[in-house]
Amino acid sequence: MKKILITGGAGFIGSHVVRLFVNKYPNYQVYNLDKLTYAGNLANLTDVEQKSNYHFIKADITDGPLLLELFEKHDFDSVIHLAAESHVDRSIANPMEFIMANIVGTVNLLNAVRHQWKNDFEGKRFYHISTDEVYGSLGHTGFFTEQTAYDPHSPYSASKASSDHLVRAYHDTYNLPVVISNCSNNYGPNQFPEKLIPLIINNIRNSKPLPVYGKGLNVRDWLYVVDHARAIDVIFHKGADGETYNIGGHNEWKNIDIVRLVCQIMDEKLDRKDGTSEQLITYVKDRAGHDLRYAIDASKLQRELNWTPSLQFEEGIRKTIDWYLENQTWLDEVTSGNYLKYYEQQYQKR
Ligand code: NAD
Ligand code: TYD
Repeated sequence: MKKILITGGAGFIGSHVVRLFVNKYPNYQVYNLDKLTYAGNLANLTDVEQKSNYHFIKADITDGPLLLELFEKHDFDSVIHLAAESHVDRSIANPMEFIMANIVGTVNLLNAVRHQWKNDFEGKRFYHISTDEVYGSLGHTGFFTEQTAYDPHSPYSASKASSDHLVRAYHDTYNLPVVISNCSNNYGPNQFPEKLIPLIINNIRNSKPLPVYGKGLNVRDWLYVVDHARAIDVIFHKGADGETYNIGGHNEWKNIDIVRLVCQIMDEKLDRKDGTSEQLITYVKDRAGHDLRYAIDASKLQRELNWTPSLQFEEGIRKTIDWYLENQTWLDEVTSGNYLKYYEQQYQKR
């Protein structure tokens, strides 16, 4: 029996983690704490919301006193912390929101946990979910390992790096039982269409230009979101206190190649003539401080905890496209209102 607080559970990755834990562990009580920002959406969880071991708390992690109250009331024995502002372009436009949610929010949670657990750490765990972007940018060769020095370049990655350091500091200073994982780019159902893959799918659907930054030669290492949730499950249960685990798909793609692949599959699915969607590709001004390449060495996780990705990219990307085409109401809902304002500010000025 566990009482787990999952923060950011209404977001993209968080909703897959909540679903996995609620279904796989009926004897755990899962509390999803989320502020429901533009990226948080309870429609991501309709299939689990009626389960008796699932609970939702609408709260903001930047509110320290509220977190103390919630810990007092529910006495959580574990935390899986995913709540964050997560989009690099938004962090360039508005860094302070990232400082507040990602740094201050994380410290508030650490303080609440410390206050509640005192020095009794038996059966306790604070699991911080982070990104490979903290390691900075690679050249054309090499991989990020757990020993790679932090070298973040965007306000987003700098805020995540900062939160990772604080989580480690609370382990080293107060013996808090923490574990951290740093994962590569995720893709899959429920990702907000500000990120590359769902943005391209949505724009092809609407026959809108497909904005590719710079020359499209930046490389990302893509992992299917359900495989990330599986890794989180394994690390939460078997990872060692104080350790860091890199998670990645060994699946590097240049942006332009991904965009072309999505175009090709979408033409097929939408019964459009081969080559139709590629005509929408539009090269736009590069992102400031754009990291050239991310690639993860996940061999520690494989060696020590026996995790490997379950899905090949060709299968994962087709499943993802199918999900978006079958859930066009979801897409229409999240791309109305504020999304349109964001889109205009982000892309029309280019
Ligand atoms: P997301 O933007 O889809 O979801 C973030 C969630 O956090 C949303 O539900 C939002 O409402 C919630 N949230 C934001 N600020 C909050 C606050 N102040 N209080 C409470 N809730 C708040 O993000 P995601 O892509 O699912 O990423 C989840 C986590 O995984 C983040 O910590 C991110 O840094 C990390 N991560 C993401 C990726 C990726 O490719 N998306 C890769 C590696 C790591
Ligand atoms: P993104 O999905 O924002 O993830 P991250 O920046 O965290 O890696 O972007 C993935 C890659 O795609 C990145 O190199 C930037 C690029 N990109 C575009 O070319 N056009 C776009 O409209 C977006 C959102 C991203």
